[in-house]
Amino acid sequence: MAYSAKVMDHFMNPRNVGELDNANGVGEVGNAKCGDIMKIYLDVQDNVIQDVRFNTFGCGAAIATSSMATELIKGKTIEEAMELTNKAVVEALDGLPPVKLHCSVLAEEAVQAALRDYYE
Ligand code: FES
Repeated sequence: MAYSAKVMDHFMNPRNVGELDNANGVGEVGNAKCGDIMKIYLDVQDNVIQDVRFNTFGCGAAIATSSMATELIKGKTIEEAMELTNKAVVEALDGLPPVKLHCSVLAEEAVQAALRDYYE
């Protein structure tokens, strides 16, 4: 299965790349098997994710899924962001090859880790 146009777009032009100096929630996760690492920064004000950035050292699908994940949670409430699943990220990207599904799981875990950090 080839990559969808949306995956290619988010891989070539990833949205929300970088760090946030004023982040109040930061989550970092890694996949032990492939060694890829994903870090997400959240700026939460009044229970709403005002801004979000990510840094991903990983494969193309990891970059595309983190890009899409940040787009999906930007402007959302904490509760809405907590419901983000890797499935929703994959659907928003018009699918991923089965061998690349774990990359989207990394994106879901990174968002969850950043939200957890915000709570703590
Ligand atoms: Fe590891 Fe994609 S191959 S996140």
